[in-house]
Amino acid sequence: MDPAARAAELRSALEHHNYRYYVLDSPEISDTQFDLMFRELVDLETAHSELKTLDSPTQRVGTLPISGFTPHRHLVPMLSLENAFGEDELRQFDERIKRFLGLTGDVDYFAEMKFDGASMSLTYVDGVLETATTRGDGTTGENVTTNARTIRGIPLRLREALPGRIEVRGEVVMLKSVFDELNATKVTKGEQQFVNPRNAASGGLRQLDSRLTAERKLNFFAYGVGSVELGLPPLELVEKQSTALGYLKEVGFAIRSEIKVSTGIEGIIEFVEAIGRARPTLPFGIDGVVVKVNDKGMQNELGNTARGPRWAIAYKYPAEQAFTILNSIFVQVGRTGNITPVADLEPVFVGGVTVSRATLHNFDDLERKDVREGDTVIVQRAGDVIPEVVGPVLEKRRADAEKPVPPVVCPACETPLVRQEGLVFLKCPNSKGCPAQVSSALKHFVGRKMMDIEGLGEKQIDRLLELGYLSDIASIFRLHTRKAELLELDRMGDQSVENLLAAIDESKTRPLPRLLFALGITDVGERGAQDLARSFGTLEKLKHAKYDDLVQLEGVGAKTASSIELWFEDEDNLRVIDELLAAGVAPVEAEAPVSDIFEGKTFVFTGKLEKFMREDAEATVMKMGGKAAGSVSVKTHYVVAGPGAGSKLAKAEQLGVAVLTEEEFLAMLPAGTL
Ligand code: IVH
Repeated sequence: MDPAARAAELRSALEHHNYRYYVLDSPEISDTQFDLMFRELVDLETAHSELKTLDSPTQRVGTLPISGFTPHRHLVPMLSLENAFGEDELRQFDERIKRFLGLTGDVDYFAEMKFDGASMSLTYVDGVLETATTRGDGTTGENVTTNARTIRGIPLRLREALPGRIEVRGEVVMLKSVFDELNATKVTKGEQQFVNPRNAASGGLRQLDSRLTAERKLNFFAYGVGSVELGLPPLELVEKQSTALGYLKEVGFAIRSEIKVSTGIEGIIEFVEAIGRARPTLPFGIDGVVVKVNDKGMQNELGNTARGPRWAIAYKYPAEQAFTILNSIFVQVGRTGNITPVADLEPVFVGGVTVSRATLHNFDDLERKDVREGDTVIVQRAGDVIPEVVGPVLEKRRADAEKPVPPVVCPACETPLVRQEGLVFLKCPNSKGCPAQVSSALKHFVGRKMMDIEGLGEKQIDRLLELGYLSDIASIFRLHTRKAELLELDRMGDQSVENLLAAIDESKTRPLPRLLFALGITDVGERGAQDLARSFGTLEKLKHAKYDDLVQLEGVGAKTASSIELWFEDEDNLRVIDELLAAGVAPVEAEAPVSDIFEGKTFVFTGKLEKFMREDAEATVMKMGGKAAGSVSVKTHYVVAGPGAGSKLAKAEQLGVAVLTEEEFLAMLPAGTL
């Protein structure tokens, strides 16, 4: 193809994908695909300098901010970074630096992880957070201060007053564990799952309702400073990258300890390898390592190109993506009846594991991506965790490939599927009789965070269901009447049967929150179960709770309240509960209140407490008839804030909720409580 035509084609494609990524927050292609196209354009422009135009995507970063938030102009632009693929490109970077500076000796480098999230610039005036902004087009971002205040890792006030103005730069990320937890909740609610932690983080920053941002439990890691207009800037801040981060840590920012200072590039290359090995076990996603010239004087000398600073480069790990053949698409029925299409793949090694199955999320998503059986597809381990099919390679599609047809009946029980308005999942409504749902409900019940019944694994459950020894969760507690039959089973010796029955017995006294979570009440997750247990104290009381009582509670919205009420009105559920209780399931229940001084009052504890563990403080409140909650809302009466309190304190101030110090809280307790 003619180079000029190809360059034009790449430019318009890159512009489009840039817009999808930065503005719409909804990429259509993978980062690797984008990087490859970008690379190709850079190479073309280098080979044919007449093709370089000012409006080329290689000459600028990002696109305009979306409307809805007020624009904020960065005092120092938020630049992008050049990429290095492979160690040799790091060595070339080192050579360039030395040439530019006219040095023969080794340069001091600083390396840190490249967090895979959303960039953010925080402006502090006299040590107080004034604005938080997204990167936007690099020059102008969006003011998302209200949302940023919900992020725990963002100090609202620095630990040192710092007269003047300073921009702190960093990345907002979602931890993998939070991502998994939120997606699990989304599955139970029949909502669309987040695609990856980065999208969940950057989408979280753009919520018009900051409560929704808070729900995403985002983190913030600082990696540098922008403009520094301080009367007398602390030396550490302006001397070196390494000392600046040390200083930021002192004034209250989360700085990861995986950093490296090295004289010469070889030490940095070792660090890059080490981080590459540690990558799968990190609690958050990274997409590379950023290598920076450590000395700020040298950084200034090196300056910037149109694309980014000359003094830094982003080393990118080989993509955790791979091509493979999609053999077939089958559907899975989840615990709550949601129907998920799953790809059966030709096994492929990606991101450190062999993947032979990948989720296709739901039939809307499948339709949008236009994935078909027999296609060559791109598979990726999103956020290092759940393998997913990114999309098909259309050029390789066979002419006779047919579009998959969504099922109309449940593959497990043949009940006609339904689709609730506004929700993306097809659903099997036969919650009690569908073998797939019954099996998932049992597997959930025995799970580690629920009743934790060891020896009752997934295969075991399916086998016992098939034999008719299990039917619903209450039937687990009748297994001891089938001891003789159990002993007949393959691989079930005396000892394993004894162990299984003992594990079942032992589970009977699991604390109430775990039992509530295990029951699989619609919309009640782990945290919700804890809140309910705290508020009601016994299963019996919760059983009779009505919508109006439930909706008063912290963290319980209208939908959850009616789900709970409905669940306890269902006769089958009530029968199962009666059978559980009759079988001796007796959760350890909260102690009865010893006083009523906090009757009807809800407390939230935040920050560091000196005299109490938070759990003990909460238990004390409950003993006095009050409630303890995990988040601040209009239903909160008191927030007890210790040092380091962040978003909860801010929320309390915003809502006008009374804020107490630990001493003031102690003073409210009757003498001798402690
Ligand atoms: S330094 C002048 N350090 O990567 C640019 N950036 O391509 C200085 N990022 O959007 C950037 N982790 O938000 C730097 N440890 C790190 C980073 C990091 C993630 C992001 C940054 C920016 C992009 C640059």
